[in-house]
Amino acid sequence: MGNTERIPTHIAIIMDGNGRWAKALGKERYEGHLEGVNSVRECIKAARRNGVKYLTLYAFSTENWGRPIEEVNALMELFCKSVIAETPELIKQGVKVVMIGRRDRFSERVCSHLQQIEHDTAAGEDLTLVLAFDYSSRDEITTAVKSIAQKVASGQMALEDISEHTIAQSLYTASIPDPDFIIRTSGECRLSNFLLWQASYAEMYFTPVMWPDFKQEQFDKALEAYASRERRYGKL
Ligand code: FPP
Repeated sequence: MGNTERIPTHIAIIMDGNGRWAKALGKERYEGHLEGVNSVRECIKAARRNGVKYLTLYAFSTENWGRPIEEVNALMELFCKSVIAETPELIKQGVKVVMIGRRDRFSERVCSHLQQIEHDTAAGEDLTLVLAFDYSSRDEITTAVKSIAQKVASGQMALEDISEHTIAQSLYTASIPDPDFIIRTSGECRLSNFLLWQASYAEMYFTPVMWPDFKQEQFDKALEAYASRERRYGKL
């Protein structure tokens, strides 16, 4: 028996391989990121066309701050430019953008662009695009544990009231359903600190295709693979 819910409600993607794609073509790493933006645009279209309701993209991990400063700055610039350029089309397509991750380490300029796009697209009802910026799962869980501990210490919450639900509600993804399907491009087969709590029952899809080559056709191919999976959630 195949999967009865053939289209995943929530797809999360680890966009990987921009640098290797560029290197293989004798280009600068930055050009890989630039083509990666086109893949983002294509995947948003494909997600809408297929009726996916949530699309989460791992755009910048907490570990990415460790890259050379020139690359970090170039990525920040690219995020700002993309956010400004894409907002009108996202609004037209009914896409609501929400951010997950830390907010305290970006420049004021980057923060204001991120806030602006969340604000401007808030009425979108077709697809929620979740952008993971300065995100890591361990950081998210640590923040959640601190906030719960604080509530218990101040008497706002009893120790025995801590449940899986309380924890889920303390994560950045509180209002977002768990991902059904996680895609990673570029041939790496690991989660790299991405949605560790939320991925408990997600189907995984690893493809050797580099992110700049992951366009609508690749997206559809991944969906075909999902449709053939059987999800049992620990049952028989
Ligand atoms: C991974 O490739 C990609 C990134 C760290 C950045 C992802 C950013 C984009 C696709 C650009 C635009 C995104 C948005 C949401 C506007 P890598 O650099 O790790 O590649 P490598 O492993 O081959 O070096």
